Amino acid sequence: MKYLVVGGGGREHAVAAALAREGDARIVSVMATRNPGIAALADSVLISKETEVERVVGFASEQSVDLVLIGPEAPLEAGLVDELVQAGIPAFGPTRAAARIETDKAYARDLMTRHGIAGSPAYRRFVDCDEAVRFIQDHPGDLAIKPVGLTGGKGVRVMGEQVDRDGACAYAREINGPIVVEERLVGEEFTLQAFVDGTRLVPMPLVQDHKRAFEGDLGPNTGGMGSYSMPDHGLPFVTETDREQALGIMESVIRAMAAEGAPFVGVLYGQFMNTANGPMVIEFNARFGDPEAMNVLTLLASDLGELAFRCTDGSVGASAASFLPEATVCKYLVPEGYPDAPGPSEPVETGDPGPARLYYANVEELDGRLWTRRSRTLAFVGTGTSLEEAEAVAERAAAGVRGPVRYRRDIGTRALLEQRCTHMRSIR
Ligand code: AMP
Ligand code: GLY
Repeated sequence: MKYLVVGGGGREHAVAAALAREGDARIVSVMATRNPGIAALADSVLISKETEVERVVGFASEQSVDLVLIGPEAPLEAGLVDELVQAGIPAFGPTRAAARIETDKAYARDLMTRHGIAGSPAYRRFVDCDEAVRFIQDHPGDLAIKPVGLTGGKGVRVMGEQVDRDGACAYAREINGPIVVEERLVGEEFTLQAFVDGTRLVPMPLVQDHKRAFEGDLGPNTGGMGSYSMPDHGLPFVTETDREQALGIMESVIRAMAAEGAPFVGVLYGQFMNTANGPMVIEFNARFGDPEAMNVLTLLASDLGELAFRCTDGSVGASAASFLPEATVCKYLVPEGYPDAPGPSEPVETGDPGPARLYYANVEELDGRLWTRRSRTLAFVGTGTSLEEAEAVAERAAAGVRGPVRYRRDIGTRALLEQRCTHMRSIR
């Protein structure tokens, strides 16, 4: 099988590495900057913006690929899948219409309302920021303020966490476009990703991401600083009932989308807040999470190419995805100053990663050296029979990196996990 992987981040490196584990897989790549990890696995690379739909489709047909796997959300929104399907090339990812579940937060909330799907916080949508500001000023409780469209995971401000009421109003004015304002959810976050073939879901292990830039969950939201998963593929602050409810919500969403003529194919990513009343939807993404893809794909024992293909022909529901019964800890190294003010491009050296898996992200190889760019640089994934073992592997590898980059030491530590569990017990 010959695959085209679209995208050049840590997530897409993990996708390419999982495909490459099947001996007969051949990989070609389209990415905006040359990810050295993907380039090493690929027979051929086209350096291009992933949203240049015509170029990507042209490359896919020129290369006679059997399947295209799309990592990031932007090419989905640009209609890449629609054009690939038009050209007769199977694509693992949703059409532009189905990608709205991520690209249009108001659509996602309204869809759940129309179909009476549980798990949505109270929300209001506004086309006009003045109206949103009046609502925020008059509303008694804490709120989350979100632009309707894509923001790279950095566009939400939460009252009582990052901003006060005045800050929330100021942020609504700053957005100055369509806004969703919703009830602030309190609890612990978790990610549930599933392979979807239009009607059925095959779930993957639960993962917890860490959005905030600094240790102790401080600082601005980022694309994600790292993540972990447990050997039993659950999380200790998520009961089996919670997990089933979350999966049930995702199944209902997939049914609703199919019923409305926008069937979803690809990875549905559910980000949930586990609250006193069970899991509530923070948002959906229409693709693998980054970093979460690195956790689950490092563990995937089934053939990713086959699962992805079965999503495109409507038969994944009949298969099972099997994952190694191990813990994973992923730590991202990011440029100092990320996300608000990343410094200039500088060389980094990775040292000896030991048994950790190294996934490259926004990094460039020049004159035999690695150089940082503006976004997340590279990630290490440790695996082990316990969280402690996996964390030690990732930590040792991350600590060995030399250069103007930093990472969160607390991700995947037992102390942080205990804190999450204590918090959950305190609200239930
Ligand atoms: P998103 O861009 O939707 O992934 O949101 C980024 C982060 O904002 C999430 O990881 C949450 O921590 C937080 N967030 C989003 N919506 C809410 C909400 N309704 N209540 C509390 N926190 C939220
Ligand atoms: N880890 C969050 C995301 O991929 O959007």
